[in-house]
Amino acid sequence: MAVDPLIELRDVNKYFGDLHVLQDIGLTVDRGEVVVVIGPSGSGKSTLCRAINRLETVQSGTILLDGQPLPHEGKALARLRADVGMVFQSFNLFAHKTVLQNVSLGQVKVRGRKKEDADRRSHALLDRVGVASQADKYPAQLSGGQQQRVAIARALAMEPKAMLFDEPTSALDPEMINEVLEVMRQLAGEGMTMIVVTHEMGFARSAANRVVFMADGRIVEDRTPDGFFGDPRSDRAKDFLSKILKH
Ligand SMILES: Nc1ncnc2c1ncn2[C@@H]1O[C@H](COP(=O)(O)OP(=O)(O)O)[C@@H](O)[C@H]1O
Ligand SMILES: [Mg+2]
Repeated sequence: MAVDPLIELRDVNKYFGDLHVLQDIGLTVDRGEVVVVIGPSGSGKSTLCRAINRLETVQSGTILLDGQPLPHEGKALARLRADVGMVFQSFNLFAHKTVLQNVSLGQVKVRGRKKEDADRRSHALLDRVGVASQADKYPAQLSGGQQQRVAIARALAMEPKAMLFDEPTSALDPEMINEVLEVMRQLAGEGMTMIVVTHEMGFARSAANRVVFMADGRIVEDRTPDGFFGDPRSDRAKDFLSKILKH
């Protein structure tokens, strides 16, 4: 039951043309909660994340952040994107900026910090995610795992209220997955509110407060990890779990 909602979706519907990709979505994420979203490809997980960040508009329903409807444009929208940090599968760092510049840029542009303050904070964050020595390199000179940790540092530099992770380890070589999950585990432990789309079931079991299972644009189950993995109720979830747990 919701005690202190930070993110709320009520009856949210989203179409791409005729395709009904989010169907009557209701989801509440409390402050400090970690919600893992899983489900088959095409079930609407990325669209859900993007809608919360207003990278996608929705046709009906309400999305609230901290009790306020999402802003539509302008500075308020830029602030929303800073308040809800997003980490994508594909890192999305600025290729022609150094690691340090990547982490400092938004702080100066959106949060209005002085460059020296921003850089100081960036160095501390890069240290925290374990890439302090890479500050003056360009993204292409880093491994995928390092780039993803920079992307996390960049989002954290904005002092977000919540973080959205959309398959943050799916593009990584296996040996780099854990270094990214470890940073995310640490964040969760520090009380960050997080929505994490992932196929890493170990992370879901150990770090999530809730598991949301989506299929065909709907939330089919919204359960504790123990409940979901120990006793999936829907045929869709049983089928999905039997496929991914075979690996
Ligand atoms: N920009 C888009 N235009 C049209 N269809 C889209 C677009 N983005 C996603 N879709 C479709 O919406 C559905 C949900 O996609 P997505 O949210 O990416 O699912 P998931 O992240 O669970 O794989 C899929 O059928 C996908 O093909
Ligand atoms: Mg996706």
